[in-house]
Amino acid sequence: MSEASFVAGCGLGALNTWGCGGSCRWLASPKDASEAAIFIKKAADEGTGLYILGGGSNILVQDGFIDAGVISTGAMDEFEVYAAEGGARIEAAAGVPVKKLLALSLEKGLTGMEFLTGIPGTFGGALFGNAGAAGCSFAPLVEWAETISFDGSHRRWRAEELLWKYRTCPWGGNSLLITKASLRLRSGSREEITENIRRFSALKKGQPIGAKTAGCVFKNPEGNSAGRLLDVCGCKKLSVGAARVSQNHANFIENSGGASAADIYALTEMCRKRVYEEYGIVLEYEIKFFGAF
Ligand code: EPU
Repeated sequence: MSEASFVAGCGLGALNTWGCGGSCRWLASPKDASEAAIFIKKAADEGTGLYILGGGSNILVQDGFIDAGVISTGAMDEFEVYAAEGGARIEAAAGVPVKKLLALSLEKGLTGMEFLTGIPGTFGGALFGNAGAAGCSFAPLVEWAETISFDGSHRRWRAEELLWKYRTCPWGGNSLLITKASLRLRSGSREEITENIRRFSALKKGQPIGAKTAGCVFKNPEGNSAGRLLDVCGCKKLSVGAARVSQNHANFIENSGGASAADIYALTEMCRKRVYEEYGIVLEYEIKFFGAF
């Protein structure tokens, strides 16, 4: 049996940035892809659900008991840097923190990842949500990615097989674990990289700091801004229990203390309804859900 840490009946509230939600059947923290495969098989054998947990910064976890296993990628944190023409390749496992990748690129004088400035969580989570800023994302950087699907099959995907869309990874749904990927970066000067980091950091100025949030709740509709639409519809006045719409940015929901997942979900749906009634636009969720909503 694996050396990976394993907890039966684990609470998930402390493992997500909203700080709410219930518990799962078990939580496993494998160190690599082969250990992860053991737990993917376990979930399949038990016939229950399975969720993949990265940094917990973009998820809403259902209250009460979730009849599912959860694989945390936090211990899958190895990475290597290889010299390549005009720059380098970084091969990183899913659990490497995004912050660490950004720091590494600055340290090694590699440009292309500055859009990660201020993005929380893990590499795998950021890839799965195709995280980005100002039109920049992982898409042009990924050379290959390795996955294990929930039916147990392993695969390496080449760049040309991967179709990335705004905040949508090529695989979608909750059906696989991204174990590792390779990024191709160009050499750049420290000054250039630092200036780019400053530029991306400035884009986040209007976002709430220090509050318990999960980043933007909704994707931006094409050619529009979810935050602006929610704001114009008066959503900043809305709250449910201790869940309230951020006064800084209407696409963020804050847990001001003791909000349940049901409170947060009721508020997101209330906001969504307002935008639909006012503009006929159905906002799509950017956050991912653990359990039933
Ligand atoms: N706006 C308002 N009221 C608000 C919020 C925004 O009027 O309450 C207006 C702003 O004034 C601006 C426009 O809406 O004119 C766009 O707002 P902002 O510049 O804050 O960018 P955004 O589109 O809301 C996107 C990403 C963020 C990312 C920023 C900066 C999405 C859904 N959001 O926000 O990503 O940090 O750009 O690059 O794509 C995330 O994905 O979790 C996230 C926070």
